[in-house]
Amino acid sequence: MSAPTELLNVQIDGVWYQFKKGTRVIEACAQAGKFIPHYCYHPKLSSPGNCRMCLIEMGMPKTGPDRKPELGADGKPVISWIPRPQISCAQDITEGMGVRTDSSLVRECRHGVMEFLLINHPLDCPICDQAGECHLQEYSVEYGTAGSRFLEEKVKKPKRVELGPRVTLDDERCILCSRCIRFMKEIAHDDVLGFASRGSHTYLTAHPGKRLDSNYSLNTVDICPVGALTSTDFRFKMRVWFLKETKSICTSCATGCNTIVGSRENVIYRQTPRENDAVNSAWMCDYGRLNIHYVNSPDRLKFPQVREAQGLANVSWKTALAKAGEELKQFQRNSVAVVASAKMTNEELWLTKKLIDSLGTVYHDVVPRAGQADQLLMSADRNPNTLGAQLFGITSEYPGSKLREMTEKIASGEIRAVVALGEDLTQIGLAESDLKKLTALIVVGILPNETTRNASVLLPACAFSEKRGTMINIKGRLQRLNHATLAPGEARDDWEIIRDLLQQLTGSNGIYLIDDVFKEIAETIPEMTGLSFGRIGDHGVQLVEESEDAQPVAMTV
Ligand code: SF4
Ligand code: FES
Repeated sequence: MSAPTELLNVQIDGVWYQFKKGTRVIEACAQAGKFIPHYCYHPKLSSPGNCRMCLIEMGMPKTGPDRKPELGADGKPVISWIPRPQISCAQDITEGMGVRTDSSLVRECRHGVMEFLLINHPLDCPICDQAGECHLQEYSVEYGTAGSRFLEEKVKKPKRVELGPRVTLDDERCILCSRCIRFMKEIAHDDVLGFASRGSHTYLTAHPGKRLDSNYSLNTVDICPVGALTSTDFRFKMRVWFLKETKSICTSCATGCNTIVGSRENVIYRQTPRENDAVNSAWMCDYGRLNIHYVNSPDRLKFPQVREAQGLANVSWKTALAKAGEELKQFQRNSVAVVASAKMTNEELWLTKKLIDSLGTVYHDVVPRAGQADQLLMSADRNPNTLGAQLFGITSEYPGSKLREMTEKIASGEIRAVVALGEDLTQIGLAESDLKKLTALIVVGILPNETTRNASVLLPACAFSEKRGTMINIKGRLQRLNHATLAPGEARDDWEIIRDLLQQLTGSNGIYLIDDVFKEIAETIPEMTGLSFGRIGDHGVQLVEESEDAQPVAMTV
């Protein structure tokens, strides 16, 4: 049994509370519902205490001549107040401590700090990219003064500095909080940023000969409280208050970092990390974050097509599905193969397994995607749902192990029909000439490639932001993918396409809601018993014990 947590008594604005030993003063205040404005403090980083925005009044229990705390009429310790303000971000609570978060001294301090920070900061919020999510702007309204007493020229600092391939710095906006420096040093372990010069001429820069080119560089943009560090990709593309925010997960590797997808009018503008200590702390990698632009591609497949004498022709969904069913019915058992994808959701994979079973083929697998794990967040497995594909029996313990046999049989003409779900068959060693040998090639996809060009029936599907569903990350955590944008043209949700293919083959009654697909899974798969989309929640649920060798190595949080 773990030792009981030691609780300490702390008075905040006249009320006594109990907090766990080791709680920082600023965090204790937050738990008591007293917000303390702050810039340099970040719960996942060390506290240098350099911005002074979190000043409060602090007191310690008064002791009598016998060194014992003096007790007041209420039986609580009498507090002796320190006669100058203290920062609340860099020290832990102690027994009997008193805190005042809203006294006249505290308010005066906040005014002073805001005035000081704004002396050299440009007052051009309407044209700043951070407007709408800038702490300086917000605190200026809440704690600042309307006028300025500053008569001198503002210090000019470097503009539009390319700190790295993905981050642009406007130095005159920097308030020298050092969050970015600490992130790179403490979390990304790539100590490339620092301050140069002195006094009001101090500026942020990369160390000589270094660049901010880490795969985690864009996290500095997230935590910069002002508009100094900006994402080169997102900068000045969209005002943040126009963005619709949808909680989702990144699908660029098996880690499944929790994200917020920022979209407007069906266009994704950015993807930023969402805090989940069981998965990604508060961070995500640049690769995953920026792997969104294909969703907005003008080349997206928009209409169902079937092959006619002159090539692929647009048809209705009804015609395309009927044609697919007709073709598949001719090729039952092992003359047909199903190449699925570990990028598919559990619901899609579940229905795919039913499709495989109704075809009666032993030739089915997913296409593995391997990369380099980076010891922070990125997994070597670049597929987001390999565990789901294994759980539902689409692939084995060794994803892709059947592909070689399948490609040989396709090339030799033994397999004459293939259902390709979200994968390009030329990526598994087949040549275009092999695809042309197939009598039926039913393809579900979102972007054109050699496989879609050679399809006999082409069924346009949804990208990750256009559908709901669940995936299981590398650590066995079941997480939800949410609907942020609409699919282009007549493209449809993948699970519905697979359900309709299944209906064509079996004539069974359809399922009409994805929630019902999940219900069916939960009733069949023991690991998911009792779960529903609602119960999974925004932070997911752990399905299986984490294995020791699961990548990635957990980040320090
Ligand atoms: Fe802080 Fe932003 Fe300046 Fe870095 S660039 S020190 S995060 S204000
Ligand atoms: Fe405490 Fe900056 S937040 S000194």
